[in-house]
Amino acid sequence: MTTTAELLGGAKITYDREGWCEYPLPFDAATVALLKQSVERISREARPEVVHEKGSGAVRAVHGCHTFDSVCARFTRLPRLVDLAQTLVGAPVYVYQFKVNLKQPYEGAAWPWHQDFTFWTVEDGMPAPDAVNITICLDNAHAENGPLVVIPGSHRHGLIDAPTGGATGDWRSHVSTDLAYTVSDDQAGRLLREYGSRTLLGPAGTVYAFHPSIVHSSSNNRSPDRRALMLITYNAVHNAPPHPTRPEFLVDRNTAAIERADSDSLTLPARETALR
Ligand code: SIN
Ligand code: MN
Repeated sequence: MTTTAELLGGAKITYDREGWCEYPLPFDAATVALLKQSVERISREARPEVVHEKGSGAVRAVHGCHTFDSVCARFTRLPRLVDLAQTLVGAPVYVYQFKVNLKQPYEGAAWPWHQDFTFWTVEDGMPAPDAVNITICLDNAHAENGPLVVIPGSHRHGLIDAPTGGATGDWRSHVSTDLAYTVSDDQAGRLLREYGSRTLLGPAGTVYAFHPSIVHSSSNNRSPDRRALMLITYNAVHNAPPHPTRPEFLVDRNTAAIERADSDSLTLPARETALR
């Protein structure tokens, strides 16, 4: 039988080499159902954390839910995720950013080629790419509903097409399909010819991790199926930006090392249920 330590060790080797990996311990249907319940309830609320598609009422994303929803809060603390994040980053971590990109049927719009670290260092002053994105499919991700596509190995190139100006301060251009910082089609084409691409498909519950500097994108949702993808960014405690200015729902100000939950179950202990 493969132990957790062996799974984590294998994930770390692939992640360092490729800039992404699948973690072969998916979440079960009950856990995914609880997360979806929270996300769907939040997405019906009128609050700044809920972002819509350009020119439409379709919800594109919900942000920062781990700070106000007890199910999402507990989820970020599950040992399965914290151990994976700490292994991949190689240091104690905290949640830097939490979002769910919902890609509604036919309306969910693309994310052009980009590197997340550009946003985090230019806008927030994150010192180094000592962080990791962990993604959890809340819906099945298939070829037609706009799955995430990564260019393996591109994380080793540092910042590509790095902006020359300072921060835009315009956070809406960091969460819309008209992204502030993109990797040009020329550069993406060159990397694609060198490395190829991987499309991160899988049933609901599938877990992937990807590096802050990997070049990635996703296309419009061309299907009748929603593609909800949860993305949790864990950052090394030593790598917290000293003076972030973007809203707290994009850059968490609580930079203390995350406390692991007592188990991998999302069923809340009575104390935490009372807080909901
Ligand atoms: C991202 O680039 O951070 C998310 C892209 C997606 O949801 O497809
Ligand atoms: Mn991204």
